[in-house]
Amino acid sequence: MEELALHILDLVENALSAGARRISITIIEDVNKDRLTIEIKDDGCGMDAATLQQVLDPFYTTRTTRKVGLGLSLFQATVAQCEGEVTVESRPGKGTRVAAVMKLSHLDLPPLGDMGATIAAALSRDEEVELNYHHRRDSKELKFSSAWMQLHLGEIPLNCGPVLDWVQRYINKGLAELYTQTNKG
Ligand SMILES: Nc1ncnc2c1ncn2[C@@H]1O[C@H](COP(=O)(O)OP(=O)(O)O)[C@@H](O)[C@H]1O
Ligand SMILES: [Mg+2]
Repeated sequence: MEELALHILDLVENALSAGARRISITIIEDVNKDRLTIEIKDDGCGMDAATLQQVLDPFYTTRTTRKVGLGLSLFQATVAQCEGEVTVESRPGKGTRVAAVMKLSHLDLPPLGDMGATIAAALSRDEEVELNYHHRRDSKELKFSSAWMQLHLGEIPLNCGPVLDWVQRYINKGLAELYTQTNKG
C-alpha cells in the first residue's frame, strides 16, 4: 500500500469489525534511534489462539487471498520490508493490540499519508466509538480524542460532514507542524 495511513485504516476497520468501543492509535517517530512505532489497541472481541495463529501465518493468508482481506499480512509485509516486526496480542473478550516497530529512515517506508482522512473515516463508520490518536515525533506531539471533541460539540454529532472535514484538517495541520523544523539553537 502506498500510505501508512491506509494500513492504519485497515487495522482500525478490523477493530471496528470486532465491535471495539475504544480504539487508540499511537505513532512514535524517534529520529535519533531511527525508529518508527505504530500501535493500534482496541477493546473488541479479540481472537482465540487458533485465529491469532492463522492471522499471522503467511501461508494461510496467501491461500485465502480472495476470501478474506489481507489487512494484517499486507501490513506485516510492509513492516518487514522496513527491517521491522509486527506483534499481535489478543485476548478473547478483552481486545487486541497490534504493534509494529521499524526503521524510520528506511527507503521502502511508505509516506504517512492522510492520517486525517483515516481518523475521519473511522469516526464516520461508528459514531459511538471512542477514538484516541497520539502522534509523537521526537519532542513534538499531536493528540486527538473523539471523546474530548464530542464534549465540546455538545448536541452536534461528531460524524457529520462538516465536523469530519474539520477533524481531518485539524489532524493534518497538526501533523504538518510536527514535521516543521524549528531552530532552537
Ligand atoms: N482487532 C481485531 N480484533 C479481532 N479480530 C481481528 C482483529 N484484527 C484482525 N482480526 C481477525 O483477523 C482476521 C484477518 O484480518 P485481516 O487480515 O485484516 O483481514 P480481514 O479483515 O479482511 O478479514 C479478521 O477477519 C479477524 O477475524
Ligand atoms: Mg482487515
